[in-house]
Amino acid sequence: MLGYDIVAPKVTVGPQVVVRVADVYELTPELIRSHAHLAMGWDPPKPDSQETGFDALVSDMMPKTTGVRDADQAASMGVVEAALHLALELLQPDGVFVAKVFQGRGFDEIVRDVRKALVEVRVLKPKATRQGSRESFIVAKGRRP
Ligand SMILES: C[S@@+](CC[C@H](N)C(=O)[O-])C[C@H]1O[C@@H](n2cnc3c(N)ncnc32)[C@H](O)[C@@H]1O
Repeated sequence: MLGYDIVAPKVTVGPQVVVRVADVYELTPELIRSHAHLAMGWDPPKPDSQETGFDALVSDMMPKTTGVRDADQAASMGVVEAALHLALELLQPDGVFVAKVFQGRGFDEIVRDVRKALVEVRVLKPKATRQGSRESFIVAKGRRP
């Protein structure tokens, strides 16, 4: 498993997980494929193959909040859009995309974008979510051709 965070994580993860420090806006599908190759010896699909490689892309990114509600909401939508963009390039045809999304301005649009791009789409609020939290998760599977 390959993970990214803009801030180096303080927790240690198991040997099967490789974490790199990177800003999602600076990541490209090519860079991620090369990191996967370096970290896990993963061979990228051949150029003429329909396979794109990854089984799942999961994002629980949340940019630092500023206290300005609209700006924070826009920033949180931005990272989801960036993750979706990468997912569409990297996921296998039956791959899974999961993203934490905050309800508010831009929420319907991002759900619409995910529905346009993936076949099965659900918006879920885990039972463990704090009461009153605007946090929910988009869970989607299967890239549209
Ligand atoms: C809710 S925390 C989750 C952290 C970690 N996945 C965990 O479970 O402990 C949100 C994380 O998103 C990261 N983040 C925010 N903006 C980012 C960006 N532009 N690129 C990459 N990571 C980002 C933050 O540094 C933060 O660690």
